[in-house]
Amino acid sequence: MIQAAEIAATRDMNRIYRYQRHIYDLTRRCFLLGRDRLLDELAPPKGGSVLEVGCGTGRNLIQAARRYPDATFYGFDVSDQMLATAASAITRRGLTSRIRLAQADAATFDAERTFGRPGFDRVFISYALSMIPPRREAMTRAIENMAAGGSLHIVDFGRQDDLPVWFRTVLFAWLRQFSVHPIDTLRTDLHALAERHGATLRFAPLYRGYASYAVIEKS
Ligand SMILES: C[S@@+](CC[C@H](N)C(=O)[O-])C[C@H]1O[C@@H](n2cnc3c(N)ncnc32)[C@H](O)[C@@H]1O
Repeated sequence: MIQAAEIAATRDMNRIYRYQRHIYDLTRRCFLLGRDRLLDELAPPKGGSVLEVGCGTGRNLIQAARRYPDATFYGFDVSDQMLATAASAITRRGLTSRIRLAQADAATFDAERTFGRPGFDRVFISYALSMIPPRREAMTRAIENMAAGGSLHIVDFGRQDDLPVWFRTVLFAWLRQFSVHPIDTLRTDLHALAERHGATLRFAPLYRGYASYAVIEKS
């Protein structure tokens, strides 16, 4: 059953991305920093499975599928508009047999229900957590849908600690217009999540704190 919260999230994201999706990849390239580092470090095992939470236009899934030709990729998003763009980009590149897409809400995602599989060797979330109000639920669902020995990789806006205060003020005010709310407590939230699941956290501010990059590993 689709929850009222998921219907509202779909409506909100479709409103933001209905037209934006056509220029998304071109315009986000210069400010969604750290995405390529995340993809470089995914390194799934041979024949492994990789899931992107909030996959948007499919840009990351396509790049990752090219980097790791032995892995299979899965992506979901709450916005059917973004998924339409992702599906046509994946078809154009002849990757439909390697990348599966579905519509789901990160806060309630269940791998078995959505993709008919128990979990993934790698799960990643790129610049989506800051757009998901129930972010703790989304992080929990991400780690719970990881296979044993798997890892969760996250990149998102950071606290801008080593950049001028005016830069943070202007950037965050601009991001709010698109329902993006950078998470000041990301490091402590992820630390608590890792502890609860007996996992380890590696956390690094990137580009003077512009972005935050984290990897949680479950042994
Ligand atoms: C800024 S875009 C990032 C897209 C992509 N991950 C990237 O790095 O380019 C955020 C994406 O998160 C999706 N999103 C927002 N809330 C979501 C939710 N509750 N569940 C799943 N996806 C969600 C949006 O629809 C959007 O496609």
